[in-house]
Amino acid sequence: MTAQATPSKDQAEVVLVGCGCPLRGMGWYHGVQMLNDEVPHAKLCHVVEPWFLGPGAEGPGGPEFGDFAKKAEADHGVGFHKSLADLPPVADGVKRLALISGRTVDNPRLMSEAIAAGCTTIYLEKPGAPTVAELEAMKNEAANKDVTVLMGYNKNVCKYVSKTRDFAASCDDGHVTFVSNNTYEPTAESLGECFERNAEGMLKNMAIHELALLVSFYDVSVDNIESVVADKDYSSMQTLKGPSGKDWTDFDKIKFTIKTKTGKSVSVQADRCGGDVSYATVTNSAGDELFRYNMPDEDDKANVKRLEEKYPGAMPYFFSQDPDYITVKDRVAAFCATGEEAKGIATIEIACETLKVAEYLVPVLQEQLK
Ligand SMILES: NC(=O)c1ccc[n+]([C@@H]2O[C@H](COP(=O)([O-])OP(=O)(O)OC[C@H]3O[C@@H](n4cnc5c(N)ncnc54)[C@H](O)[C@@H]3O)[C@@H](O)[C@H]2O)c1
Repeated sequence: MTAQATPSKDQAEVVLVGCGCPLRGMGWYHGVQMLNDEVPHAKLCHVVEPWFLGPGAEGPGGPEFGDFAKKAEADHGVGFHKSLADLPPVADGVKRLALISGRTVDNPRLMSEAIAAGCTTIYLEKPGAPTVAELEAMKNEAANKDVTVLMGYNKNVCKYVSKTRDFAASCDDGHVTFVSNNTYEPTAESLGECFERNAEGMLKNMAIHELALLVSFYDVSVDNIESVVADKDYSSMQTLKGPSGKDWTDFDKIKFTIKTKTGKSVSVQADRCGGDVSYATVTNSAGDELFRYNMPDEDDKANVKRLEEKYPGAMPYFFSQDPDYITVKDRVAAFCATGEEAKGIATIEIACETLKVAEYLVPVLQEQLK
């Protein structure tokens, strides 16, 4: 049996909260990257998994989680716990980081529990909370306790975003469109399951990454929005039954353009069934495409193929965004361990504004698409 994992002096002691099911949960993939030593400043020491170590242990995904836990404990000395309250106290000189990747609805409570368990830095998965009010309360709680919250908005550090922004900055007449795609089947059953599981809706769940880009780089805020125009030909809103039998209304495709009062203009396009390539374009005012950059690009494709072979059946977005997940985790972990500034990483203030923009846009776009 391997001894309990401990961090070295330049590493944060990471507590992964909400690992989820192997091959499916975002937390699991974060965990795998740390166990593979791909994140130099992060040492995965503990996993807190309320569902698969509790009511979900025997259900779908439970046995797979059990196998993963046994191996991580035996090979890497990772401690497994049902709740944050079960963690041992923080050892002298150790900086504890919670990487919170639970269901969005659970994340506000998990953050309070992580602070109580001695975490001084929080890596919070997007969007952080279901509502602006809850996220603002989290921001205030963290500030009062002197805890820093940094967000898992990995597209902020992504190659296709920086390449596209650089190109747009180099031309006088360049309009950027960020295009985000998922790989759901275009059927009522597949989309109904997606709508129910991601009940906060497409804008707060999927396109929230693009909204974070707009807030981070295009001065978009609710107060600074001059106009929002939906592309009615492209967009689609549906009401579908989820696995529980309940009806859910959401966008399965959406495209819109925002103009700001400070003179910026940018578009977002998202499609639940668009495939596994996301990209960004720059077009001129005549509508000609001047530039396009894909994620994954040609260089990344070899890495994607290698990962597909290593983890068959895993969520495709793990692979295309693999280097970005490492970058965000390492910068947050380095901040926790050494105080080094987490350059380019979205703060909880950015996340609050992003969620505000999402809450503002949903009824505006729904009205335009009626
Ligand atoms: N940055 C990204 O690219 C990215 C991608 C996907 C998800 N996320 C974010 O990561 C977080 C986790 O997402 P996920 O897709 O891994 O979620 P998930 O639902 O698969 O798992 C999260 C947690 O939910 C609990 N859970 C699982 N099944 C449950 C059930 N049937 N009933 C009750 N609880 C259950 C488990 O404790 C699990 O750890 C979210 O905040 C999400 O927005 C980020």
